[in-house]
Amino acid sequence: MSDKPQGQNIPFHLALTLLGIALIVFLGFHLRYNSQFLLQIAIFGVLAVTAEQWQIKLPRQGVVTVADAVYYACIIIFASPSEGSSLLSGAAKTAFVILLGTTLRRVLIRQKWYIVASNAAQAVVPFSIGALFYGYFAAGPLFFPPIESFSWNPSILIPYSTHIVRNLAILVMTAGFCFFLNSAVVSFGKAIQQGLSFGEVWYINNNTIKINMLMLSPLGLMMAVLYQIEPLSLLLLIPPLVVMYRSIKSYTDLLEEAKATIEALAAAVDKRNEYTFQHSEKVATLAADIGRELKLKEFEVEKIKSACRIHDLGKVSVPDRILKKPGPLTEEEFRTVKQHPSVGAEVSGHLTLCQDEAELIRYHHERYDGTGYPEGRAGEAIPLGSRIISVADAFDAMTKERPYRKSLGVEEALRRIEGGKGTQFDPKVVEAFTAVMKKQGTWKKPESDTAGRAS
Ligand SMILES: [Fe+2]
Repeated sequence: MSDKPQGQNIPFHLALTLLGIALIVFLGFHLRYNSQFLLQIAIFGVLAVTAEQWQIKLPRQGVVTVADAVYYACIIIFASPSEGSSLLSGAAKTAFVILLGTTLRRVLIRQKWYIVASNAAQAVVPFSIGALFYGYFAAGPLFFPPIESFSWNPSILIPYSTHIVRNLAILVMTAGFCFFLNSAVVSFGKAIQQGLSFGEVWYINNNTIKINMLMLSPLGLMMAVLYQIEPLSLLLLIPPLVVMYRSIKSYTDLLEEAKATIEALAAAVDKRNEYTFQHSEKVATLAADIGRELKLKEFEVEKIKSACRIHDLGKVSVPDRILKKPGPLTEEEFRTVKQHPSVGAEVSGHLTLCQDEAELIRYHHERYDGTGYPEGRAGEAIPLGSRIISVADAFDAMTKERPYRKSLGVEEALRRIEGGKGTQFDPKVVEAFTAVMKKQGTWKKPESDTAGRAS
């Protein structure tokens, strides 16, 4: 939730910020100051501010923070209907803790006021409305009578259990409600900013936010239980949460580092040969353009790009004397070269972050008519990403010099790719490739070598 409002995104962020300010002002009039007020704001304020510091960037997309757990706890404790506390005053306390949590760090690092306000609104609006929802439907405090008077006596057990089950059901609905509003707000903002459809961004973000929500609402519940036993005991949660944060962060850092190492290795393989320097990066750019032309979802395009960057990683097993051989390869040498898709898939398949890429790498030398390698798969049995890589790879290879031949030139490369439609290449991928070339102007000027533009 740290997007910087920009361009056409501004009206959306402005509207959201105004809604957040209106909510804060309205709820502010309903704050009820009593002896507990300062202690509650202090405890939950410290927890919220601390939790907001611990943001973990996920490898694929999005950010995880444990702050939402604190906000769920606020909803349960402050918004539960009880004597001396109104529905609006409970929502007001929740909103003020969220305001404190989301703004303090950003103010201290001197972020621009509109970014601070917009990010605060992204959390204040969904969770305040969630607090009103919970307060309206919940049946009194979460534990009533207090947890210490629990007994197995049926006259106490049955109403006690019914009460808790009802409140837990309302809590699950509140978490779902907050999730829905929160992810809708974040997805809508990103969709406008990136020019993507709301549904697409929603789909990508859901994978992250769903896990966040599922894990954090029980944590919020745990905080509420601890608070009811002894308010200050909540501070004891900080050390285990620090340990949890550090463990998750080390894990995600490790995944990123492992992937970066593999990409560096693949780039080093490209560099082994002066003719293939930066080849993978150029194939990645062209494949992404083809993917977008085919209207693939952005996360699928990213996956294809990522696979392109390491598609020839398996050439690490091919000796220099074969890779750099100026003449045609012998049958045995070609057999060695043909192993590189499987070797690349095997190496990258060991990495958690490269599972999808490994499959695309394995089949990037299959042909549409089934005469390729390593398995001789045909048509739709070859993953679409591999069929796209195949066209982009062939175009970049043909327009560059090789040890055994000169560049074929753009015109001849385009002609050969058209000629391979339905035999070597998937016809619809070739059509998308042609459309990309036309858009880039490459198709109209076949006499000049503009292969660089396609990379
Ligand atoms: Fe290859």
